[in-house]
Amino acid sequence: MTKLAFLGAGRMASAIVDGLLAKKLYGPAELACTDGGDGTASALAGRTGVAAPTDLAVLLGPADAIVLACKPQQLAGLDPRITDLASGKLVLSILAGKRLASLAKVFPRARNIVRAMPNTPGQIGAGITAWCGLRPLVPADRATIDAILGALGQVVEVAEPQLDAVTGLSGSGPAYVFEFAAALRDAGVAAGLARDIASKLALETLLGSARLMARTGTEPETLRDQVTSPNGTTFAGLQRMAAHDFRGLIKETVLAATARSEELSQDS
Ligand SMILES: NC(=O)c1ccc[n+]([C@@H]2O[C@H](COP(=O)([O-])OP(=O)(O)OC[C@H]3O[C@@H](n4cnc5c(N)ncnc54)[C@H](OP(=O)(O)O)[C@@H]3O)[C@@H](O)[C@H]2O)c1
Repeated sequence: MTKLAFLGAGRMASAIVDGLLAKKLYGPAELACTDGGDGTASALAGRTGVAAPTDLAVLLGPADAIVLACKPQQLAGLDPRITDLASGKLVLSILAGKRLASLAKVFPRARNIVRAMPNTPGQIGAGITAWCGLRPLVPADRATIDAILGALGQVVEVAEPQLDAVTGLSGSGPAYVFEFAAALRDAGVAAGLARDIASKLALETLLGSARLMARTGTEPETLRDQVTSPNGTTFAGLQRMAAHDFRGLIKETVLAATARSEELSQDS
């Protein structure tokens, strides 16, 4: 009996399905998905054993909750029967930039609507997703949302106006980290290392430092100070970062992405 119906069977839907099945929170018979006609649903079904009915009524009829996982620009092209078929159901949207007010126009009779902003590490269960609800969630719906989004990694609840800042920080953040990793690698090459060695050193330094922060729960400034001897090597490096206002640059970066998110979600 289908409990969760996925509209979209691409990267994010696949990551959620994989996570739910791996954690045994749902069995394949309780999940179903559909796509826009390019075959992603049958690929996901073939790989995992979830259902992929072609008729929307068959997909949504028995479902208790709907996960909206198509591209934001594909929302307008959804089968218009969705409005009636979603009546009384919990709708979870992971569509970037689509506000609760506009989702409520598509799903006016949904039991409740949740808007979430995941990030790319969610594809390996190492993401962080912020979410907000149209109305306060009853405990059973909160548990459903925690399970679905928990398949992508960590979960935090925020107020909807904060979702643009979330997008600027954790939504776009993986790209900043990838850029930092590439910069660290290239700097290692400039310092005389072979590219493959520099890549490995950069990756493991980021990974190890992030793990140390997570495991100890220590503030990053404290960990930084613990490895910085007065007038030592790290001190020399950090001085250059401060001279070029590294923190100011990162602040500008997050604020620019936040502002762009606000622009893109205007009337959306
Ligand atoms: N990737 C990320 O890290 C990330 C982060 C934050 C938010 N998001 C959000 O997550 C959503 C999905 O992203 P993605 O990377 O998983 O995209 P994706 O891989 O392109 O998957 C999109 C899915 O939607 C399907 N689709 C298209 N039209 C449809 C329709 N009319 N009815 C039902 N399904 C339809 C597509 O099917 P076809 O294959 O047939 O086209 C495909 O299965 C996006 O809205 C994005 O904003 C993603």
